[in-house]
Amino acid sequence: MKTFYPAVLMLGLFGAPAFAQATCEPGETVIKFSHVVAAEGHPKGEMATALAARVNREMDGTACMLVFPMSELYDDNDVMEAILLGDVHLAAPSVSKLENYTFQYRVFDLPFLFDDMDAVQRFVGGPMGQDLLDAMSDYGFAGLGYLFNGLKQFSASRPLLVPGDAEGLTFRVQASDVATSMVEALAARARQLPFEEVRAALQKGLVDGQENTWSNIYTAGFYEFQEEVTATNHQLLVYLVVTSKEWLDSLDSDVRLQFLSILGEVIEAANMRADGINQASRQRIVEAGGTVRELTGDQRRQWRSVMAPVWDEYETMIGVDLIDAAIAAND
Ligand code: LMR
Repeated sequence: MKTFYPAVLMLGLFGAPAFAQATCEPGETVIKFSHVVAAEGHPKGEMATALAARVNREMDGTACMLVFPMSELYDDNDVMEAILLGDVHLAAPSVSKLENYTFQYRVFDLPFLFDDMDAVQRFVGGPMGQDLLDAMSDYGFAGLGYLFNGLKQFSASRPLLVPGDAEGLTFRVQASDVATSMVEALAARARQLPFEEVRAALQKGLVDGQENTWSNIYTAGFYEFQEEVTATNHQLLVYLVVTSKEWLDSLDSDVRLQFLSILGEVIEAANMRADGINQASRQRIVEAGGTVRELTGDQRRQWRSVMAPVWDEYETMIGVDLIDAAIAAND
């Protein structure tokens, strides 16, 4: 029988409650899940916590899951190597950060590609989306599923209603060439920073703005230094739940089957909750005094049209078939 103790005092930025970590017993296969976001109030953080709870209850005596949130163990730059070395066994980085391994995930980054999360669900559930899970197998990775966060919003210290409002500002982006091109299309500057450095960069004025989902803007405290958030919904943030093939193959087949079955169910439940979590975060930003602006149809068309050249720039690298399949998922 496992015990749980608040080993990791996740007081973090907002005094989040203590995060209960399991104690593993001798003989149990230890599964370490490292991620970079808050353990609570976040689609990925809550998924990791829910997964650990189920593994630790249903596989007690066989397996034991430990979760390390908020870049406590690795950031997204280091975690992929840590997986190959067997230092951690599970991560869920944004697919935008996987450009070193494949250009195919760039399809998810094309601005204004998906109309809504139902379209994303249709694309990832279809044959091409499922094939993409294996896009990094040559490097020894196994993609186990897509975990949704949601659509991203631009913020700054001044209103951003038309693309010209962003001109000359510096925005933090993820480590992604597509994101950099997208910001440069606004005649703005892009600065790639690891997630854990963004809040301080906003506070110190090293960047003027950022673009992320409501749940990231709220739980990481970006909104505290950004008076204005615009509901641009311009780009997707989706994660790949990933492990190493070597580790997965090393599990006894019944253990592997049970683990993958639990994981599949937990991802499905988390994806159904993601939008609600983001809407709650948006509401909390407003309650904290933040200004959230909506775009008119015409303003949205302007953002779309300014960013359209990004599609042309990356089309050949991604593959036209893949882009067409993603577009078709909007119908
Ligand atoms: C970011 O770096 O903005 C995101 O990828 C963080 C995350 O994991 O949601």
